[in-house]
Amino acid sequence: MITLKLLALIGSGGSADVFRLAGGRVLKLYREGLDPGVIAREHDGVQHALDQGLHVARAFGTQAHRGRNGIVFEELIGKPLLHLPLLRPFRTRALLRRFADYHARIHLCSATGLPHAQHDIVRVRLLEAEVGESLRKRALDQLSAIPRGDRFCHGDYHPGNVILTRNGIAAIDWSNASVGDPAGDVARTELLFRYAAYGRSLRRFPALRAIRQMTADFYLRHYCDHTGVSEAAIDAWRLPMAVAALVPGSRIHRPTLVAALKRRGFSV
Ligand SMILES: Nc1ncnc2c1ncn2[C@@H]1O[C@H](COP(=O)(O)OP(=O)(O)OP(=O)(O)O)[C@@H](O)[C@H]1O
Ligand SMILES: [Mg+2]
Repeated sequence: MITLKLLALIGSGGSADVFRLAGGRVLKLYREGLDPGVIAREHDGVQHALDQGLHVARAFGTQAHRGRNGIVFEELIGKPLLHLPLLRPFRTRALLRRFADYHARIHLCSATGLPHAQHDIVRVRLLEAEVGESLRKRALDQLSAIPRGDRFCHGDYHPGNVILTRNGIAAIDWSNASVGDPAGDVARTELLFRYAAYGRSLRRFPALRAIRQMTADFYLRHYCDHTGVSEAAIDAWRLPMAVAALVPGSRIHRPTLVAALKRRGFSV
């Protein structure tokens, strides 16, 4: 058995810790108890992204460490876009355009051969969401009415899952990658911009929350203008994606999203 030397913890997310290894590699070590299906989906997703010619971190295979499952990836040198320079509007807008363009590039890719379907992933979340039965049914009905797409979708595309490197933007965290409808993928990104968990500064400063809404608007407008995807197509996904985000352990700030749904007349 190979024993790996973990040099430093370089990142942590909801499902994994990421450690630097020697030789320009990192080990993404998933939390104990995580569904192995999620790890397989990440491996399939990143492999598919590579096959499609997208700029991503190459995967070198799976690797267990002290009872936890992991995947070894190439280390991307750069910073997650999450640290957008919000107080430098020109730079922020330029980065948001690149962020939206990369998303559009993912959606130009065929997803033939990828075994995971966006409708199925969202449906499972809708069944697990902590909401009343009538809202669940409404979201499920709305999902069923949307045609299944045939494009490559990331499934969790947000500025924390995008790294700005010397060679351009690269998306990480492909564990929700699927064949699907780009409009749904965009609706998920919009939702994350607007409602992802609030840090202390966002809770304290309403102006920062307003900037977040403006970034969401800017991303959406740029994406739609450059792809021809309509606002109506994205709108059809908004309720299913919002309800699907009300699962336990979600990165969404539940009180804010619930308040927004109630303002729109939904009983949660
Ligand atoms: N290939 C890589 N090269 C460099 N840094 C990386 C790489 N993969 C991940 N990271 C770092 O580790 C952090 C967590 O990685 P990742 O988003 O894949 O974890 P996660 O637990 O799946 O996240 P989430 O909370 O979105 O589910 C990233 O934000 C990034 O800083
Ligand atoms: Mg992540």
